[in-house]
Amino acid sequence: MSRTVYVNGDYLPEEEATVSVFDRGFLFADGVYEVTSVLGAKLIDFAGHARRLWRSLGELGLTSPVTEEELLEIHRELVRRNGIDEGLVYLQVTRGAADRDFAFPTDAAPTLVLFTQSKPGLADSPAAHAGIRVISIPDLRWGRRDIKTVQLLYPSMGKMMAKQAGADDAWMVEHGHVTEGTSNNAYIVQGDTIVTRHLGNEILHGITRAAVLRFAREAQMTVEERSFTIDEAKEADEAFITSASAFVMPVVSIDGAMIGNGAPGPVAKRLREIYLDESRKAAI
Ligand code: PDD
Repeated sequence: MSRTVYVNGDYLPEEEATVSVFDRGFLFADGVYEVTSVLGAKLIDFAGHARRLWRSLGELGLTSPVTEEELLEIHRELVRRNGIDEGLVYLQVTRGAADRDFAFPTDAAPTLVLFTQSKPGLADSPAAHAGIRVISIPDLRWGRRDIKTVQLLYPSMGKMMAKQAGADDAWMVEHGHVTEGTSNNAYIVQGDTIVTRHLGNEILHGITRAAVLRFAREAQMTVEERSFTIDEAKEADEAFITSASAFVMPVVSIDGAMIGNGAPGPVAKRLREIYLDESRKAAI
């Protein structure tokens, strides 16, 4: 069945939705995106994603063609029209179409595209029960990873390297320290302490990360926001990742080294439960 997608003010069947070949998102990856999860036909942490979107836009001198309120309504309308119960809403804003020139055009109108992906079983996924295996790869991305741009070639290559190595994903490493996963934030657990890299330009400021750390602190868990080495990670009691599409996902091996006893650990399991419970309650 064809999806209904949103392009610049119109709701269209996906076969009829187009953007220009001159769109700077296509030519220069000159655009930003957000992915918001849907559980029970409701949006998880829309406000957080909207906040980060406006920050990303601002960092690139882009402006949103719609208000936050209008954006919420577009998300809801797409969820409704496509009958999404569990899944994702993908949103992309680019600088728009202009004759090819490296310098930013002054007269281009931004392109806004949204579409849904239905993912039944997103919350009760087999991967969450079994845990995932990651490999480490060098972090070869640019220096402004805090901006959620659509330049996702290296993360795609990282996922392919993982696949070829018989693993599920990759953690990226810079100067011996883990930055983040290809499309998620990375954590280890040492004793009672949850460790995840501090915020900065080196990582994306995950919306799930912010919520999970808040819930962890509310549950009296100890959180340390600092960089950790890949060697520390391999010796950790537990490891996990967070993202809007994975929620909290246990990691059970790194570069073939078993983490803990090779099964999802209690901290990751508990945080996943708390995150899903609290997020469902707050969903809009
Ligand atoms: N990825 N780090 C990177 C590099 C990411 O691409 C993502 C999200 C995250 C986690 O951010 P959040 O918790 O806000 O989803 C961290 C999305 C899900 C994606 O590209 O599909």
